[in-house]
Amino acid sequence: MSPVSRRDFTRLIALGGSSAFISTRAFADQRASLEELGYSAAPMRPAPQQADEKFWTEVRSRFLVPRDLAFINSANLCPTSLPVIEAMERNLRMYEASPSPDVRSGLLRGREDARKLLAEALRVTPEEIVLVRNTTEGNNFVSSGVPLGPGDEVIVWADNHPSNLNAWNVKAKRFGFTVVMVPVPPTHPGTEGYVDLFAKAFTPRTKLMAISHVSSNSGDLLPATELCKLARDRGALSLVDGAQTFGMLDLDLGAMQPDFYTGSMHKWPCGPKEKGMFYVNKAVHDRIQPSVVGVYGGAVGISRQFEAEGQRDDASMAAVVEALNFQGTIGRAAIEKRSRWLATHFMDELGKLNGVKFWTHSDPARRAAIVIFQPGSLDPRKLGAALTAKHKIVATVRAGQDRPGIRLSPHFFNTLEDVDRTVAAIKGYMASGV
Ligand SMILES: Cc1ncc(COP(=O)(O)O)c(C=O)c1O
Repeated sequence: MSPVSRRDFTRLIALGGSSAFISTRAFADQRASLEELGYSAAPMRPAPQQADEKFWTEVRSRFLVPRDLAFINSANLCPTSLPVIEAMERNLRMYEASPSPDVRSGLLRGREDARKLLAEALRVTPEEIVLVRNTTEGNNFVSSGVPLGPGDEVIVWADNHPSNLNAWNVKAKRFGFTVVMVPVPPTHPGTEGYVDLFAKAFTPRTKLMAISHVSSNSGDLLPATELCKLARDRGALSLVDGAQTFGMLDLDLGAMQPDFYTGSMHKWPCGPKEKGMFYVNKAVHDRIQPSVVGVYGGAVGISRQFEAEGQRDDASMAAVVEALNFQGTIGRAAIEKRSRWLATHFMDELGKLNGVKFWTHSDPARRAAIVIFQPGSLDPRKLGAALTAKHKIVATVRAGQDRPGIRLSPHFFNTLEDVDRTVAAIKGYMASGV
């Protein structure tokens, strides 16, 4: 039982009175109905060494996404698993039955447990973890919080998300520093190619480099470890936006050594919405100032200052624990392997269709689980709409001039059947038009 211990729970039931009992009954009824429909809220088991489709179908049964809906859009937003939904509901009911300091302190302990689990998952320390709202907030905490001014330069990759691109331009106007833009190469140039591209942008005035770990526009996986080393060697700080990697890659920030790393719980980690992770390397705790100053900070390290954002949704923050345990139990290495394998399968099968042009590199070492392709001369908007309306397939449509097409982002809750039927539908439209 999380995030509160069994002893806490007994005490909290006493505080919540009959509503806590009603909520427990409601769960039992809800579980029984879900099981009748083929879903399960039971905890997952670890992935076996050679996890087969049967195992991943078990994972799939933990998600409310209906069986006939192929949801291949994790780069945008992920569903939350049933054990997490139950934890959120349980916490919420308990809190609403008694929004007292006692219940709240139980939930705040859950927040600290989440911090410990995050640190463990990322191979860093709890003192370096801040629970923020999302990647956007983490990125902006860096662009607003690192003292920069006239004469200073910040290197920004042109393929960054607006929260790590436009945000820098806005702050540059306000604080007087200069943004140096690194262009997007026509195709992934490999580790050395990317390091060379960024190395050219450094000058003695460079104070910080802001990159994305994976581009949401191409699927390129950047050599983050090498780029962070480059920044360190040149005396600059590094910010890595991990919105497209956190919860999908089995990350080791201890080895990567970024100064700042950001991510969203509601994307690949399949956690509660509007929860994010902001990592601040202990070596630079004195190089950044909090942008929001209030009360109710975290219990340890940098979270004491950076989480003092006033009252928050303690009930769903505490449920982050369940999301981390869900992926942690299955195994992060197994999840990465599965998502990557599904992406590779997409590339192999779509690559057989005449006219498909990939914006994502075919080398698995240069991508993660995002695949973006142009479907010949088909209008991506029409294709995306037909996939959803006629085949119950959800993917991202990239309309416009910049790398137009369809973005597929499979994750560990997808089955091989989801992938195969998506390819079959696209094949049909490529042959006879939309
Ligand atoms: C690379 C990247 N960074 C940041 C974000 C923003 O994430 P959020 O809206 O959760 O802050 C996204 C969203 O897709 C993204 O792809």
